[in-house]
Amino acid sequence: MTADAQQKTPVTLATLRAMQQRGEKIACLTTYDASFTRVLEAAGVEMFIVGDSLGMVLMGYESTVPVTMDDMLHHAASVARAGRSAWRVVDLPSGSYETPGQALLNARRLMDEGGAHMVKLEGGTGKVAIVEHLVGHDIPVCGHIGLLPQSVEEYGGYRVQGRDEAGAAAILADAVALENAGAGMLVIECIPAVLAARVTGAVTMPVIGIGAGPDCDGQVLVLYDMLGMTAGHQPRFVKDFLQEGGSIHAAVAAYVAAVKDGSYPASEHNY
Ligand code: KIV
Repeated sequence: MTADAQQKTPVTLATLRAMQQRGEKIACLTTYDASFTRVLEAAGVEMFIVGDSLGMVLMGYESTVPVTMDDMLHHAASVARAGRSAWRVVDLPSGSYETPGQALLNARRLMDEGGAHMVKLEGGTGKVAIVEHLVGHDIPVCGHIGLLPQSVEEYGGYRVQGRDEAGAAAILADAVALENAGAGMLVIECIPAVLAARVTGAVTMPVIGIGAGPDCDGQVLVLYDMLGMTAGHQPRFVKDFLQEGGSIHAAVAAYVAAVKDGSYPASEHNY
């Protein structure tokens, strides 16, 4: 660990809300292991998502659906052992939050054994009862709406969401319902930039976008994508920062700087 990472004050949800209020963009990346976690913190990343994308980028699955609680706990604990400053959000994997009781049991394991500061789950109005149950038991929750990778088999592929009026209205309703249920943060994935700006304006919680334009409170990318390691089709919103950065530390520092100064995402990354 570098001295830089050692000295940083831990980021809390209050820190992220204060950044949101003063208009400072939040720089978030996914991470799944101790070594990357150290580099990312040293390069200035304020928030991590231990995403179930690990099923695709680390484990070689076609989607995030096969990822298990054991997979998530293994990687979340590795990140937590190395993490010193960044806020850690860990995904509840597919099938682990079917009922409020099951969700609570698994969310507690992610907090206690996986070192999560907050858990993330996919879905909007249909997940209100689960979010209320978790928040009622002091588990901080991050919602995830727009494109839901755990439902990709239902969509028949990874597609931009909320392009028509009905779809956009449903996404707005999802965001408001999650906030009313007690969610403290929101990820919105693969929606038109104009809609993402409306969602961000409609709620008070920090909104982190991925493929959702420049007007969210912060940005996240899958780490392996921003290091130019995307397997197969590269989505429009992905930028390879390693190409210009030259080293992993420099690439991550360039990403943080670009999120902060608003140069990422640029118009060519947006829907
Ligand atoms: O699993 C993941 O990597 C995610 C990102 C979209 C943030 O949820």
